[in-house]
Amino acid sequence: MTLMTSHVLIVGGTKGIGRASVAAALAAGARVTATGRSAESLRALPDGAEGVALDFTDPVSVTALGSRVGPVDHLVLSASHAPAWGGFAEVSEEALRAAFEAKFWGYWRVIRAVAPKLSATGSVTLVTGAAARAALPGTSGLAAVNGALEAMAKVLAAELAPRRFNTVSPGMTATEAYDGLPDAARDGMFAAAAAKLPAGRIGAADDIAAAIVMAMANPFLTGATLDVDGGAHLAR
Ligand SMILES: NC(=O)c1ccc[n+]([C@@H]2O[C@H](COP(=O)([O-])OP(=O)(O)OC[C@H]3O[C@@H](n4cnc5c(N)ncnc54)[C@H](OP(=O)(O)O)[C@@H]3O)[C@@H](O)[C@H]2O)c1
Repeated sequence: MTLMTSHVLIVGGTKGIGRASVAAALAAGARVTATGRSAESLRALPDGAEGVALDFTDPVSVTALGSRVGPVDHLVLSASHAPAWGGFAEVSEEALRAAFEAKFWGYWRVIRAVAPKLSATGSVTLVTGAAARAALPGTSGLAAVNGALEAMAKVLAAELAPRRFNTVSPGMTATEAYDGLPDAARDGMFAAAAAKLPAGRIGAADDIAAAIVMAMANPFLTGATLDVDGGAHLAR
């Protein structure tokens, strides 16, 4: 796949799936601009990417990104914090509202700010999550946030055509998102998840990045959701 001569903007490029996507887009020949929340986190960007600070919970920060960035061919959204894990009775309204703020509203703000800069042949790839459709107990909050984004993306694929909108839906993927857990708890959770998957392992950030590059590069792909989850979405 080639992204030669394309300008790619990756939101959340400093860690995990976003960082792997920055590296994959650079390898595919793109010019890459990528965001992290601070000057310090931007130091983690792969060599060759231009860094821009962005906190998408802050409308002023998003407006500044929209003003600063030039024409964009492909926008990738791969960021979140404060996911609302837990049973329906346990996740508070406050926690679920925070989860929407930390992903749904951030993606929404960035798409609104950057859409006017998107080339007619361009694309937007939203990283969502297998919880949106897997109906796993304890993930109703994750399902709500990611399902809302998947539903919105399909409408935007029709409304903002010919610009293409796709979602890439990872299953559990080993990234810095789990760094806050004690090592033993994290390793146990990864092993338990892997044992239930047809693929027999959890995801690596590079697995998801490969699908993100494909979604950007394939000019006939729009309104699609790519399940890159080792089979987590399949009925068990
Ligand atoms: N890992 C999984 O198991 C998994 C599974 C399903 C879906 N996903 C989804 O995949 C996407 C990427 O996840 P990941 O595991 O790669 O996450 P990660 O390793 O924690 O990286 C998150 C990225 O988002 C940025 N970010 C966080 N809050 C932000 C904000 N308020 N404004 C702008 N940027 C912000 C971070 O910037 P800083 O470096 O400045 O912190 C970082 O670049 C997320 O949407 C996540 O929900 C992940």
